[in-house]
Amino acid sequence: MKNINIVVLFPHGLEEVGATELKRFGAKCIQIMRGSVFCKVDTQCFYRVHLQARLPFRILREISNFKCIGKESLYRAIQNSFDFKEWLDPSKSFRVDVSGINSELNHSHFTALQVKNAIIDLQREIWGQRSFINLNSPDVCIHLHIRYESATLSFATSSSSLHRRGYKPAIGIAPLKENIAAGLLEISNWDESLTLVDPLCGSGTFLLEAASIARGISPGLNRTFLFENWPDFNLQLWLAEKELARQLFKPKKNLPKILGFEKDIDIYHQAIINIKNANLQDDIEIRLGRYNEFRFPNEEGIIVCNPPYGKRIGDEKDLRILYKDLGDFLKINASGWHLWLLNGNSKLSSFLGMKCSRRFPISNGGIDCRWMHYQIH
Ligand SMILES: C[S@@+](CC[C@H](N)C(=O)[O-])C[C@H]1O[C@@H](n2cnc3c(N)ncnc32)[C@H](O)[C@@H]1O
Repeated sequence: MKNINIVVLFPHGLEEVGATELKRFGAKCIQIMRGSVFCKVDTQCFYRVHLQARLPFRILREISNFKCIGKESLYRAIQNSFDFKEWLDPSKSFRVDVSGINSELNHSHFTALQVKNAIIDLQREIWGQRSFINLNSPDVCIHLHIRYESATLSFATSSSSLHRRGYKPAIGIAPLKENIAAGLLEISNWDESLTLVDPLCGSGTFLLEAASIARGISPGLNRTFLFENWPDFNLQLWLAEKELARQLFKPKKNLPKILGFEKDIDIYHQAIINIKNANLQDDIEIRLGRYNEFRFPNEEGIIVCNPPYGKRIGDEKDLRILYKDLGDFLKINASGWHLWLLNGNSKLSSFLGMKCSRRFPISNGGIDCRWMHYQIH
């Protein structure tokens, strides 16, 4: 594998911070698009991104670009634009994912079938046999992206989303995705020496991401990736990058206080399970109860939270009270702190009674949200 083109998919709103992260790992020729970033990487950078990047949903390795008007031209282009011989012999299972449409190919499921048919017909011609289709855990995951009359064919490097870190079977109500929490922390410029509090911590996503960032835990270290079966996989370089990623772990570092409050006993227990699974029980403290029943830490720090929006959970009238109480409590108990709040309902944030100094649009599970910064006086 020499220099290759990859497209990294991010939650919309995290493309800029995602691109900065990619640049730090050595990616070149970065182009930011809506929900994704294109870049060129060498083998080491490609492995480093998979081990260390916290923000991507998925990573696609481009293998061909072609013009594609309708189903016949798609079929022909799939068979002719890439030499599948080394990559997809019939002993390997595969799946086809499709994104985008054009006027002729306007049904993703149908387009995926067309790609699948082109590949298995080619396999029958070459080997007299075809692959099985495996939707859940294929050996090879093919991705086709259509934009107007152009199409890009790629291999996805994982069959499931990279936002999952493996520690979270227990998910609370409306949990944040781990990559979104990591991206929001990045935008907040949280300095790892500062106390961090989530007064409405739910299943603990912000706390878990903060602690694992501060400990230098690489999110990809315990994953297996589909590229480990690719014909140009370089085991030696992969093991070397894994060793470098392992060395980033800081076992002895004194972490800042990372503290959460959760009033619901079941959700509290879920957060405790998640923290144990992540082996971060020495770094994160969670208290069962309403945040205003406890003494707030004395030292200054940062508050991050994701209160209910009234769209998925919570009644809007009750939520006005929750936002007002939170604002009143913080003005009295957290003067000098920074508050970062993920808000999916602009009618509610005014009840905090504070002036927002910066806001960043973020898509959270399809809800158009704002990551809002307040300096508490
Ligand atoms: C939208 S959820 C937070 C989800 C969280 N970010 C996660 O990833 O799981 C809001 C949480 O705040 C909790 N909550 C609401 N009012 C509270 C209060 N006064 N004190 C502590 N927790 C509260 C709810 O029980 C709920 O779990």
